[in-house]
Amino acid sequence: MLDIVKIGDEILREKTEKIEVFDDALRLLVDAMFETLDEAEGVGLAAPQVGVSKSIFVISIPDENIRKVFINPVITGTSEREEYHDEGCLSIPGQFWSVKRFSSVSVQAQDENGRPFTVKAEGLYSRAIQHEFDHLQGRLYVDRLSDKDKATVLARYEKEKNRKATRRRR
Ligand code: NI
Repeated sequence: MLDIVKIGDEILREKTEKIEVFDDALRLLVDAMFETLDEAEGVGLAAPQVGVSKSIFVISIPDENIRKVFINPVITGTSEREEYHDEGCLSIPGQFWSVKRFSSVSVQAQDENGRPFTVKAEGLYSRAIQHEFDHLQGRLYVDRLSDKDKATVLARYEKEKNRKATRRRR
């Protein structure tokens, strides 16, 4: 399992590089990302969150039989409709807030062997794709909130983090 980078780390703010070589090292990274995602019981994980500034994310939604890696993804279409739903992020653990997203999106990407595919997603899958795609641009869900709501989420996160650190020291 890989360590998950938390907010405050600069790598989460970088724009990622495109993958050019589809080799065994890439496939090992993808496997390790799925393992890390499963261990963390998350829905999605992007490469910057494991310290790799590359254009890759993985999504796992067992209830919908979805388990997919997206390499060099491009969002090619979005619905007019948008919707709000609570969202969290493994890099801001424990904090959730309502975020506006497109109800559905179309995506073009490549799999771990470089084969192109397209996906049209809605519901949780669509939301997860938009959240992870943002990570590849150096953007976090809190950046999509009002300044006030963002400050609230970050203050709660810091408070919780400090409380845990204090507990550990005792
Ligand atoms: Ni996230």
